Amino acid sequence: MFLKNQWYVAGWSHELDDQRMLARTLVGEPVLIFRSEAGSPVALQDRCCHRGAPLSLGRREGDCVRCLYHGLRFDAQGRCVEIPGQPVVPPKAFVRAFPVVERARWIWIWMGDAARADPDSIPDTHWLDDPAWRGLPGYMHYDVDHLSIADNLCDFNHLPYVHPTTLGGSEQYAQERPLVERLADGVRVTRWLSDIETPPFVRKVVSMPPRVDRWNIYSFTLPGLFVMDSGSAPVGQGARAGNRAGAACFRSCQALTPETATSTHYFFSQLHDFALDQPEVTRAIHSIIEQAFKEDERMIGGQQRTLALDPSFEMLPLAMDAALSHYRRVYAESLAAEQAAG
Ligand code: FES
Ligand SMILES: [Fe+2]
Repeated sequence: MFLKNQWYVAGWSHELDDQRMLARTLVGEPVLIFRSEAGSPVALQDRCCHRGAPLSLGRREGDCVRCLYHGLRFDAQGRCVEIPGQPVVPPKAFVRAFPVVERARWIWIWMGDAARADPDSIPDTHWLDDPAWRGLPGYMHYDVDHLSIADNLCDFNHLPYVHPTTLGGSEQYAQERPLVERLADGVRVTRWLSDIETPPFVRKVVSMPPRVDRWNIYSFTLPGLFVMDSGSAPVGQGARAGNRAGAACFRSCQALTPETATSTHYFFSQLHDFALDQPEVTRAIHSIIEQAFKEDERMIGGQQRTLALDPSFEMLPLAMDAALSHYRRVYAESLAAEQAAG
């Protein structure tokens, strides 16, 4: 069961280049996404209303798609506009069209009641397309349910243990308690660390002293969006009070979109505001982040396999779980409310 009345990230803008037809299962539904001739994204149910063949195996004809099983043709609103050998198109001959919006290099899709899709409620991730920042588009497919990944993102205590040579560094990190603020649609987590070992990935891409003041400030909100301000600054210069001179600053935009109950699309970019004219730095940061997410995947995947052996196992809540417990509760309550509303 997933939240439907939410904007989800369906893909990166560039995935629709060259008139491509992108087939992707999103929130349990097969979806076909392409760009109209005028350049706007179109999202249709990827299941022909005739006998259920994927439209993504069909062919583009202008802004229409023809199913290449028996030839039905659909327009960009999902209406069947032609049935070979049958002059009358019955009213039930259509596929669902989903509201879809392209913004700052992400394609956002609304999987619920189209009448409630308000583009103004799409979260702000403008850093993805801001000339003051640099980053590369990332994508990973996890064979893990989206809430287990959400747990991982809500709890950064794992950084020094799962990511000792990438994002983590000193275990001092896990000794400091973050400030967890409960939001109506998720959590906001703020962690400041003074005079701590410089994170390994920062050391690899920028000249920084061996110890820094470090911060991770992020929100994790429904239905699975993570936006983080993070960085490292020379010790004691007052980064916490706002002096970020000489700091290495990052913005991280990450979106979890469930594929099925046991698999998840993970879209991400780690943007930096230094070395803007050095693409090799951007590539190095991106590759370290990919390596780190594989480290997460290894641990979360292992956790899932272990948990599957004994469904009666009960987790032990600890202080470090405050953010993820709140997010799980918000998710469950929102899901229950959506289902009660029909
Ligand atoms: S299944 Fe598409 S035309 Fe028959
Ligand atoms: Fe992690």
